[in-house]
Amino acid sequence: MSNIYVNARKKLGTINREIYGQFSEHLGRCIYGGIYVGENNKISNKNGMRTDVVEALKNIHVPVLRWPGGCFADEYHWKDGIGSKEKRKKMINTHWGGTVEDNSFGTHEFMELCRQLGCKAYINGNVGSGTVQEMSEWVEYMTFEGTSPMADLRRENGREEAWRIDYFGVGNENWGCGGNMRAEYYADEYRRYQIYVRNYGTKIQKIACGANAGDYNWTRKVMEIAGNYMDGLSLHYYTLPNENWEEKGSATQFEKEDYYRTLKKTYYMEELIQRHGGIMDSYDPKKRVGLMIDEWGTWYDVEPGTNPGFLYQQNTMRDAMVAAINLNIFNRHCDRVKMANIAQMVNVLQAMILTEGDQMVLTPTYYVFDLYQCHQGAELLESSIDCKEIETEKGAIPEITQSASIDKNGLVHLTAANLSAEQSSQLRVHFGEDQPKDLHVEMLQGEIHDKNTFENPNCVKKTVFEKSRVEGNLVELELPPCSIICLECSL
Ligand code: AHR
Repeated sequence: MSNIYVNARKKLGTINREIYGQFSEHLGRCIYGGIYVGENNKISNKNGMRTDVVEALKNIHVPVLRWPGGCFADEYHWKDGIGSKEKRKKMINTHWGGTVEDNSFGTHEFMELCRQLGCKAYINGNVGSGTVQEMSEWVEYMTFEGTSPMADLRRENGREEAWRIDYFGVGNENWGCGGNMRAEYYADEYRRYQIYVRNYGTKIQKIACGANAGDYNWTRKVMEIAGNYMDGLSLHYYTLPNENWEEKGSATQFEKEDYYRTLKKTYYMEELIQRHGGIMDSYDPKKRVGLMIDEWGTWYDVEPGTNPGFLYQQNTMRDAMVAAINLNIFNRHCDRVKMANIAQMVNVLQAMILTEGDQMVLTPTYYVFDLYQCHQGAELLESSIDCKEIETEKGAIPEITQSASIDKNGLVHLTAANLSAEQSSQLRVHFGEDQPKDLHVEMLQGEIHDKNTFENPNCVKKTVFEKSRVEGNLVELELPPCSIICLECSL
């Protein structure tokens, strides 16, 4: 028997909508083929964006989209991606497969994608191989309303009004692919570059490059030297089933031990947030600077027969569990975690959507974002869990993961998952003094290897769960193995 206790009378802060953000890089078939197919393509599109993909993403209410990278950001020169498409420069995408990048998807196309999705724009600038002038002109091009060289160039290219840019990243992984910098050097560079990210219109939140997983020295130095000049500090952590980058493990062929090890490694995210957050607290006790986890998710060996530089992987119920655990962790730490962007939106790493020509499938991870969207902008509620633990090769994990919130209409949402691969869990949800009414439970469930394919696209999908019982202030339900629920009620 597992117990979850929800205290709807104790609100702990707002869950920023941006925690449910996405990331799209010029990498493999994420942008080209996955999102953008061009206006003259026979695949149904609106201004070049795939209609099927955009419609599916609108259903999960993507709040913010990060672009153009990733490692690609620090070799991207934005002026190559504006003006007439025939004249745009072609470049080599050195990080991702050495393919030719024809720059047909640039700033105007990205902003059109954000318009269609109804989401905020998070642009990542180039520090590694770009100049301060280049970065400052990009901001001027996008956001300045008046007369200026860059605003006039934007108008020449067909866009009269300035765009709104909510977030701007000053470099990406500058400790690695973005310039191999030391923390002190990057922090000084950050201070210099960020001045020229001007606020011409609405305020742009400036995000500094943060640590690679457990590199606490990076956080300490960057906060000490540059903490006063930023609105957010990023953090990247990927879940790999094995430590070895050469043999990360297959996305679909795995044993039960691999499944549990993957979940245990996902829980490391909580320690990372606590420890990086603790360091941030010592420089920023009021939590003004957000921890922006702008790359997270699973990273496996690529699907056999696909380009190793394209990072194309399948997605199973194991990925759904990884998403459920991470999103619950982010919700519970919403005092510091202000944004998170899963890597990546389409056809790359832990994707929402996979495409092949004109076909599209929604992954189990997509359905987790669907189930969890009720938390966007809601108030986090105090909740706790009392359940047994599951032993893994790397230590124990709780059998159940949970978080709860209350939205502006007074509806309470609890998202919970039974991580056990084989055993169902008898669950009691306690609401203290309150009596749950109008109960509605939705569920995603499957065997740990279950996935959606182009041949069988509906193997895993959301269903309504009918077998729950309200008893006074309690809801009782039997969670099947490997299942995720979203329980909604009013009190
Ligand atoms: O998401 C793939 C890559 O992972 C990104 O380009 C980089 O920032 C990270 O190392």
